[in-house]
Amino acid sequence: MNTYQELCQFCINELKPISDSSNIAILTNYILEYFGISKFSIDLTEKETQNIKSKISETCAQLAIGKPIQYVLNETQFMDLKLKINESVLIPRPETEELVYYALQSIKDYKTKKLNILDIGTGSGCIPLMWKFKRPQDEVFAIDISEPALNLAQENAKNHKLDIHFLKLDILNQEFNLDRFDLILSNPPYISPNEKHLMDKSVLNYEPHIALFANHPLQFYERIKILMDKGSKPNVIGFFELNEFFAKEIESIFTPDYSTVIIKDLQQKDRILKVTK
Ligand SMILES: C[S@@+](CC[C@H](N)C(=O)[O-])C[C@H]1O[C@@H](n2cnc3c(N)ncnc32)[C@H](O)[C@@H]1O
Repeated sequence: MNTYQELCQFCINELKPISDSSNIAILTNYILEYFGISKFSIDLTEKETQNIKSKISETCAQLAIGKPIQYVLNETQFMDLKLKINESVLIPRPETEELVYYALQSIKDYKTKKLNILDIGTGSGCIPLMWKFKRPQDEVFAIDISEPALNLAQENAKNHKLDIHFLKLDILNQEFNLDRFDLILSNPPYISPNEKHLMDKSVLNYEPHIALFANHPLQFYERIKILMDKGSKPNVIGFFELNEFFAKEIESIFTPDYSTVIIKDLQQKDRILKVTK
């Protein structure tokens, strides 16, 4: 058995008691890659091999207590970008990648035009960073109430050399003028505290509650509508991620003043609201 095979088998054995058999191969690849082990790492010394084994054991011990792998390894992939993650920010979800995809599609005719973009509740910075990566000509702003989240988002921006304007702001209680923005994006907190019993323990135990819960599922959308009404561009576009159970209620906040479309995610759940003036 060469070193790669030995480490692979070691990782599989560590994961067996704690993971579904369908996930073991994916997790093993991910963990070995994270520690820099590839099929070509066949001539590691005994000391190096033991060192990697103890790192794999530490990783699996944290997975065993239910910690999401993104928090254990402090990284995640969001579309084209590898992002640093910690427990002060939500782990970006595939639905949010879809939101960015649809928002980019909606302005694909403006290939060279410079647009002003705002992301409300930026967390790790996944939305504005991806936006700036795809459309470097745009001026991108991102706000969040959480200082630790903003620090991490800033670090991610620096790592990818992407220039974003970050701002600490409580969107519910502070005034914010939206009149410069062509596009407003948001994946706001949208879970009602009485949905807690439906939630996965690892989400409840590890993800920041300020990122998950609103007083009620419509709270942030109602506030965004008020701010849009106070002043926004005549042809402003909004893309908002939705709580699937409240999609129609959230849509009715914006109608009839705005045109709206609900877009389903890949799981066929009502997930994204597109709003146009
Ligand atoms: C659902 S998370 C979304 C994070 C990131 N955009 C994503 O999609 O992964 C919501 C974010 O809103 C932020 N937030 C919560 N309350 C806020 C408020 N009153 N004003 C501004 N941001 C807030 C949280 O800190 C969190 O980062």
